Amino acid sequence: MKTTKSPAAATANHERERRARAAIAAALFCAFALYIAWHASHESQTRPIDELPMSTARGDDTSTPNVNADTPDLIKRGEYLTRVGDCAACHTADPGRPFAGGLPISTPFGKIYTPNITPDPATGIGQWSDTDFVRALHEGIGKGGEQFYPAFPYVEFSRMTEQDVHAIRAYLNTLAPVHYTPPANELRFPFNQRWLMIVWNLFNFNEGRFVPDPKQSAEFNRGAYLVEGLAHCEECHTPRNFMQGLKTTGRFSGATQAGWQAYNITPDRTSGIGNWSDDVLIAYLSTGVAAGHAYAAGPMADVVQHSTQYLTHEDLRSIVAYLRALPPVSGGVTRPRDAWGTPAVDDVTALRGTAITTDNGLQLFVANCASCHHWTGAGVGASAPGAYPSLIHNSVAGAPSADNLAMVILHGVRRQTKDSDVLMPAFGDALSNQQVAAISNYVTKRFGNPQATLTANEVAALRAQPQ
Ligand code: HEC
Ligand code: HEC
Ligand code: HEC
Repeated sequence: MKTTKSPAAATANHERERRARAAIAAALFCAFALYIAWHASHESQTRPIDELPMSTARGDDTSTPNVNADTPDLIKRGEYLTRVGDCAACHTADPGRPFAGGLPISTPFGKIYTPNITPDPATGIGQWSDTDFVRALHEGIGKGGEQFYPAFPYVEFSRMTEQDVHAIRAYLNTLAPVHYTPPANELRFPFNQRWLMIVWNLFNFNEGRFVPDPKQSAEFNRGAYLVEGLAHCEECHTPRNFMQGLKTTGRFSGATQAGWQAYNITPDRTSGIGNWSDDVLIAYLSTGVAAGHAYAAGPMADVVQHSTQYLTHEDLRSIVAYLRALPPVSGGVTRPRDAWGTPAVDDVTALRGTAITTDNGLQLFVANCASCHHWTGAGVGASAPGAYPSLIHNSVAGAPSADNLAMVILHGVRRQTKDSDVLMPAFGDALSNQQVAAISNYVTKRFGNPQATLTANEVAALRAQPQ
């Protein structure tokens, strides 16, 4: 019997062929990747991957009284660690549904929505065993064996001791279950193929617990355990390679996060934070204010608000000890970003009698900013908590790029801590890109780094960044 192919069948055949070709191409790519990875792993090790017995790998963990059962101590410790890991920041989209997920994380490949990690059995992780949970944080693999995307910082969480992971689970178990299913991810092909992360992991992920360096102090090791692990500072502060993995060179030398520059925090004296004292760094992490240096805005304001403000003084000291000991990375700048600017003395008098135009930076500054930051730029209320800060000797005005300055003007500053409730209004709706550029250029010229200029088009690109 002879059959003629219908057009639909022909299309289906075509589709099958296209898929087969795509599968072969993917298989070849994987084989190639495996080959490269094998070679890479037989070259020098850049990071330790060996697991040591838990007792030695734990770092300075003296604050752990009893971690054998779900005791109040374990739960309390879990709550503390959950804050260090900033789990709430990513897993809370609506403050009325804490930890229930649904927050879109923008990646260059599309949007990933965070899952619900409350103990709800149907939509959360109520049915996960402790082993499932440990595997998720240590290996980046889900309950059903699926590969996670590295928007979930398992690359860092993998360094955490199993004990600490159990403490976090014990705390999450005490949360109110929220019945809520977050939206599906919006990722383009081929990035919607989770198994591709096996390839990504080969290049960018060294599964394994933190190994203390016996040559360093207990304080340094505790700091390294926190910064490289649970606190995942590198997610924002370390530059990325073309696969979006963290680079192993120039670590902590600065990177861009959702339009914001997460600055160089190596101890380099001009490009990093080498000229900050220990106490100033501790103040920045616990309040968001490093008077005479910097204020935490954007993603760093969230880190301070949800995470670092809750850290114990010992843990903050350890973090600082670790940051101080990093290899300094020079960004090639000649003057620290917090060492620019002098007060404007006669700009305002010079304005008298000039025509009002809509894109004069000085006029716009006086109209929109001077009520709080003073027309001299010196701020109001000195450095008391909640004061309006000086724009002179401010890391955002003095940075080599004015990106954060424009982001601060567009989105304002919001940061709640134990000491203060900080609010600078957002000007994104009130000012055009041209006007934001004009104010920014006035601020950097007057109070900051005059080489950091912006065009209206650059402001438009920053405005388009999803927050
Ligand atoms: C930077 C954002 C971010 C932070 C911080 C973060 N997560 Fe997540 N988490 C994600 C994303 C995104 C996913 C989903 C990954 C995927 O679908 O591939 C995820 C997935 C998970 C999952 C898997 C849930 C499931 O249903 O598959 C668990 C469990 C989890 N996170 C726990 C935690 C814990 C505990 C912390 C704090 C120690 C934490 N996360 C911190 C972004 C984050
Ligand atoms: C979610 C991204 C993100 C994470 C995670 C993060 N940072 Fe930041 N950090 C930033 C951004 C963005 C800035 C710039 C803030 C600004 O312009 O006000 C910043 C600024 C800083 C500064 C001030 C630098 C300066 O000159 O103004 C320090 C210090 C710092 N971060 C330390 C840390 C430490 C320590 C950690 C880990 C505990 C960390 N950050 C985690 C994004 C992040
Ligand atoms: C209603 C008062 C108010 C107005 C108006 C205002 N600011 Fe602010 N500004 C603040 C406060 C409050 C902070 C945050 C202080 C803190 O972080 O503790 C701030 C912070 C800043 C910072 C530092 C951000 C950082 O990350 O270091 C810059 C730069 C800045 N403002 C520029 C401007 C400019 C430019 C304008 C005008 C477009 C403006 N501000 C208008 C109150 C104001």
